[in-house]
Amino acid sequence: MTIVIFGGAGDLAHRKLLPALYNLNLDGLLPPRVAIVGVGRKPTTDDQYRAFAKDGIEKFSRRPIDVHAWETFAAALFFGAADIDSPEGLAPLGARLDIIEHERGLNGDRIYYLAIPPTLFQPTVKQLARSRFVPASDGKTARVIVEKPIGRDLASARAINDAIADVFEERQIYRIDHYLGKETVQNILVMRFANSIFEPLFNQKYVDHVQITVAEEEGVGTRAGYYEQAGALRDMMQNHILQLLAMVAMEPPHSLDPDVIRDERLEVLRSLRHLEGEDVDANVVRGQYAGGFIAGKPVPGYRNEKNVKSASRTETYVALRVSIDNWRWAGVPFFLRTGKRLPKRASEISVHLKDVPPILFNADPSARLDPSILSIRIQPDEGFSLGINSKVPGPHVQVFPVKMDFHYGSTFGGTSPEAYERLLLDVIAGDATLFMRRDAVEAAWQWVMPILDRWEQRGDHGLSSYPAGEWGPADGEQLIQTTGRRWLAP
Ligand code: BG6
Repeated sequence: MTIVIFGGAGDLAHRKLLPALYNLNLDGLLPPRVAIVGVGRKPTTDDQYRAFAKDGIEKFSRRPIDVHAWETFAAALFFGAADIDSPEGLAPLGARLDIIEHERGLNGDRIYYLAIPPTLFQPTVKQLARSRFVPASDGKTARVIVEKPIGRDLASARAINDAIADVFEERQIYRIDHYLGKETVQNILVMRFANSIFEPLFNQKYVDHVQITVAEEEGVGTRAGYYEQAGALRDMMQNHILQLLAMVAMEPPHSLDPDVIRDERLEVLRSLRHLEGEDVDANVVRGQYAGGFIAGKPVPGYRNEKNVKSASRTETYVALRVSIDNWRWAGVPFFLRTGKRLPKRASEISVHLKDVPPILFNADPSARLDPSILSIRIQPDEGFSLGINSKVPGPHVQVFPVKMDFHYGSTFGGTSPEAYERLLLDVIAGDATLFMRRDAVEAAWQWVMPILDRWEQRGDHGLSSYPAGEWGPADGEQLIQTTGRRWLAP
């Protein structure tokens, strides 16, 4: 297998892809014969590229460099320069790949990773076709991996999907949503469908509401160029959080076949109640961080970050109340929120079960029992816990909330593989379960569009501010409090 990374000298390759490939190699999970070829505009020697990879691995790999493992890995690393706009196209790169494959005894099965800005997707796939990088039917494998963002609205997502579909068949296309590759997100299926205790409770009869929080402590950092065009709704909600929602809310698939699972996730997206006009104002909160403190240190507000416009309307926080109009979830609100510069990095899904009847131990209206809550901690401190009530030892009947708690770290030890490790391995194996199918990407955009349209109409109205280091704007709290509930602190 030859893995060709367009954008091979970029940030994603440096931080995520090369460290992920290194870790797969360390675990003996890469195919026995492999070449990894970074592609970029700037001429770079193989040795320079190896030094770049080593630096990324030293800084970002979950495990340190092992000298022997590094040597075998480095021997499989190459760099090929290519200029997408040049009339020669990818011909010189093609010649280079042929030589590398010949020397390493590879048969030309290839994965093309487009770790490049979305504006380059279309020209790049065109060049792949023109330079005959995508074999028609000579038995060789060609797969393409596409990074988010897939568009910034429905129309641009469709245009990107169309452009890729001109060259690759859907079964060859792997659209990454790296949240689906997280160990704990994959565990949602196991937790729900490998235990008889939870699934019977996952419906409107027993569940009061569900919360999904994806909180980040980091601000926009150096990514304002992209983020100014995106904002939290496009950056996190349209993809990662809707996928988490789909995993929690989907029906049991009848098999583990990738398309059966993807069909079920899609059904959830299609069952989301559309929010339009004033419903958007009532059910969606957007905010932007102002200056504040993170871990006791002052940090600037979003509008004072590098490359952010001083009157920027980009939201760095969004919270929504969402309904799923199907039999399982009718009447159960889902509260979703995400934001940058919140007090800590914490992603968690919590399923809040209904109160027990107000009799016996729950009879006193001034001292109602805590409801049972199933919390799935996606990161950090991966695991899940079930909050239940117990009797305090002693002669009196006193009820106290306790937790049954499972931590990946203490149970399984070591560090879980990074999402990109699992996802790259799946592409190598040709398993598309954890990737976004075209219909799902477009269904998610379809649902998000009326919210974006409403915001466009309302301009600054409805954009709240929150101090960096706090849990978002007051309206975000009100969104849930007006229903008699409150956000669970992760
Ligand atoms: C990316 C977003 O998709 O996910 C970033 O573009 C965000 O803005 C990141 O910071 C969060 O990923 P993780 O894995 O660190 O939770």
